Amino acid sequence: SANPCATVFYKGGNEKTEELEDVKRSHFPGGFLFGVATSSYQIEGAILEDGKGLSDWDVFVHKNGNVENGDTGDIATDHYHHYMEDIEMIHSLGVDAYRFSISWPRILPNGKLGDVNAAGIMFYNSIIDNLLVRGIRPFVTIHHGDLPQVLHDRYGGWLSPLIQDDFVHFAETCFKNFGDRVRYWVTINEANLVSEFAYEMGIFPPGHCSPPFGNCSKGNSDTEPLTAMHNMLLAHAKASKLYREQFQPKQGGVIGIVVNAFMYEPLTDDERDKEAANRALAFNVAWNLDPPVFGDYPPEMRRYLRNELPKFTSEERLLIRDSIDFLGLNHYGTLYAKDCTRSSCACSGSACVAGGDRAIRGFVSTTEERDGVLIGEPTGLPICYVVPRGMEELVDYIKNRYHNKPIFITENGYSPPQQEDQLDDLLDDKRIEYHKAYLASLARAMRNGADVRGYFIWTLMDDFEWTLGYGVKFGLCSVDRTTLNRTPRSSAEWYRNFLRKSPSSN
Ligand code: NOJ
Repeated sequence: SANPCATVFYKGGNEKTEELEDVKRSHFPGGFLFGVATSSYQIEGAILEDGKGLSDWDVFVHKNGNVENGDTGDIATDHYHHYMEDIEMIHSLGVDAYRFSISWPRILPNGKLGDVNAAGIMFYNSIIDNLLVRGIRPFVTIHHGDLPQVLHDRYGGWLSPLIQDDFVHFAETCFKNFGDRVRYWVTINEANLVSEFAYEMGIFPPGHCSPPFGNCSKGNSDTEPLTAMHNMLLAHAKASKLYREQFQPKQGGVIGIVVNAFMYEPLTDDERDKEAANRALAFNVAWNLDPPVFGDYPPEMRRYLRNELPKFTSEERLLIRDSIDFLGLNHYGTLYAKDCTRSSCACSGSACVAGGDRAIRGFVSTTEERDGVLIGEPTGLPICYVVPRGMEELVDYIKNRYHNKPIFITENGYSPPQQEDQLDDLLDDKRIEYHKAYLASLARAMRNGADVRGYFIWTLMDDFEWTLGYGVKFGLCSVDRTTLNRTPRSSAEWYRNFLRKSPSSN
């Protein structure tokens, strides 16, 4: 089914340029879910309406210098008031599913110490019902970044084990109110990235950082990201146990966890760099996935971090082991990994600044260059290059490590570099090429036997891209920052055509 007459090649990938197959929906199995993804803080706005409490992001973005251009999510895309229009837009794409998240402070403004905000429940009920009548499945992330600020103030957010029960209470509230209609649940989005960004690099709330990152006035201990991850994993495990015992038998859905998953390739053919690439995967990806599958952290991490790495008690191990029905991968790009067990871990380029430290603990440095050639075309995200083969490599790795547990690609998406002159912002050919190439790569992984169940494009429309603000645009639809008008780009049109079931494609 590969088209040998491919027209587009990705340059800059060293010797491995890739042919672009003409990927079709019919290359994917019958029940495969195609969708689009969003998250509450990035689109909703209405930060203090109808009883919503403040999230940590609501607070963080108002401190000078935390976000590019002083952007905030106060209004975002105002999805809170435009959600019917947005659901129509989702519907017009012809997707099978829509992945979105529930704002914790909109449901529980005071955490488990306060009441459930009925207006918040109504809002998500309306979204869910309006999706279902249009035949779109809700794929719900319980927590995607926006923590009630009160939980930081009360006990230090993810650094305290007290947050575990708060999260379970929130999850239970979601299962009770929405679980009769939701069949797909994600407990926590990208615990691995949040732990690093919030507690090591200081670029997500609460903005703690440790050297060599940021203006580390706080000087927190180096182990904070490990502690935050530990609490997120246990919070996940407890919520999942509750779902499986009390809701799943009646409601019949599935529950999983979503990680941020870069792929790492060895910088050279040297065995040590190959091991380094494996360690990078262990320290970044398996850190988040080994516990919910196997019940403990990766042995590779234990070997290097020893007692610095938190321990699960034997009870906790039983609790967290096998606590997911599927793995969710957010995959955007690939980096080179280089061993530095013998040399210094000094790295160069933006990779070091933007994401190297966790890997450095495993004596790995990451880089986007080999012999002065970039690993792929740059995108609007730092250290994120277009390397379609990375999808196949990553899915292969996950398939082997986790014995072919069901996988969803919960995010994959493209943002153009900001400095690039956009002749016409709506003609986003590069985004289309990106998705075609990544889907073709995913199809190859599936032909190799990976059990992948769905693929979600990040994202429906331009939104608040965290510390990068509105300048980085991932949308299939553009959003005018002044009028908030939504306009589909060419990529939206491409996705709609790709998804349209032709008579021959069964
Ligand atoms: C992953 C995150 O889940 C999402 O919130 C973010 O916007 C995208 N990556 C793009 O960076």
